[in-house]
Amino acid sequence: MSGTDIAAPALPPIIAVFNHKGGVAKTTTAANLATCLAAFGLKVVLIDLDAQGNATAGFGVLPLPAVGSYDVLLGNSEIEPVLAASGFPGLSLLPATTDLRLAELQLATDEHSHLQLRKSLTEHHLSRWADIAVIDCPPSLGMVTANALTAASHVVIPARPDPYTHEGLVNTWHEIKRLKETVNSRLTVAGILLTMVTGDATETDVARTMRAEFGDMVYKVMVETDPKVVEAAQAGVPVVVLDPDGGSGRAYVAATLELLTRLAAGQPLPDGFNQDSVLNTLRDWRARLPALQRRPTESEAWAAVPKAWDDAEPHDDWTPERLTPAEPARKFTMGWLAGAFLAGLALGAGLALTIAG
Ligand SMILES: Nc1ncnc2c1ncn2[C@@H]1O[C@H](COP(=O)(O)OP(=O)(O)O)[C@@H](O)[C@H]1O
Ligand SMILES: [Mg+2]
Repeated sequence: MSGTDIAAPALPPIIAVFNHKGGVAKTTTAANLATCLAAFGLKVVLIDLDAQGNATAGFGVLPLPAVGSYDVLLGNSEIEPVLAASGFPGLSLLPATTDLRLAELQLATDEHSHLQLRKSLTEHHLSRWADIAVIDCPPSLGMVTANALTAASHVVIPARPDPYTHEGLVNTWHEIKRLKETVNSRLTVAGILLTMVTGDATETDVARTMRAEFGDMVYKVMVETDPKVVEAAQAGVPVVVLDPDGGSGRAYVAATLELLTRLAAGQPLPDGFNQDSVLNTLRDWRARLPALQRRPTESEAWAAVPKAWDDAEPHDDWTPERLTPAEPARKFTMGWLAGAFLAGLALGAGLALTIAG
């Protein structure tokens, strides 16, 4: 991989959710952060880069569509034709397709192929669709992950506080550092989120050790193990909507606020960016769930989504206009986020990779 490092001012903040280990709640974290960001009134695109398609399926998009992030990644499609509605205002999906399995081999042939996703998202104007994007990464250090981390401005690392976590984190950290030094100097670690915490004694020890080693890099909030997460995945909705006031729902709301605070790099968050406001929106979505839950439009290339709620109300048809935040009062958010993001870049060293070196 050569030392090409192109500036990407045309891109919105892009948060890659990455840990090279599987089963650490990457997908759950990506989906719930993206949903909370939308509940704050932001336009959000969740990019599913894992061929398993769990983030896509987690919004009821099953079977996986015929076109999606793979086509954008390889430069074969613009963003708009493959964008799928999540059902929730402001949040759209760049869905996974089974073709993503082929991407590793296809990308391995070209020296500059780690730049492919960043190039496509820039050329195809991701910023028209997103104030902020979240990428669900696969559990590997291959070319798809390299593309995600080359396109990203920030990376959030979910980690379980188990005794094997340390080695996984070190590998993850080295990969991030390598990409930051070679191809993406703007990449900033926006924190380590402890997930699936059961609270047993060993875990508590590991969590304490991680906080001692990584300091403020570890989020104050931890996401506890919560059966509602699995229930939500089965129902095809994120847990922050299914159970906004439950343990994991509230934890993901708090984690999103911590993420935004890190992105703002010292600037205060705008009015309305607080726990109560986002919880109210999520409760409202919960109350309207049968109507909000996404269903395929006629033009979409996949079969009917199984209905999770029998008492479904008539579906409120989804249109691209509705990707715009519903509340005009929040229109300032894009300008704020862009400003905060630039400030974050300027102050990036503070949050950047200070530990691995
Ligand atoms: N807080 C949690 N409580 C209970 N189960 C969880 C929690 N977070 C994730 N899970 C479950 O653990 C499994 C792995 O999570 P997932 O987000 O798919 O991890 P990854 O993407 O890192 O492989 C999934 O079945 C998911 O529903
Ligand atoms: Mg996953």
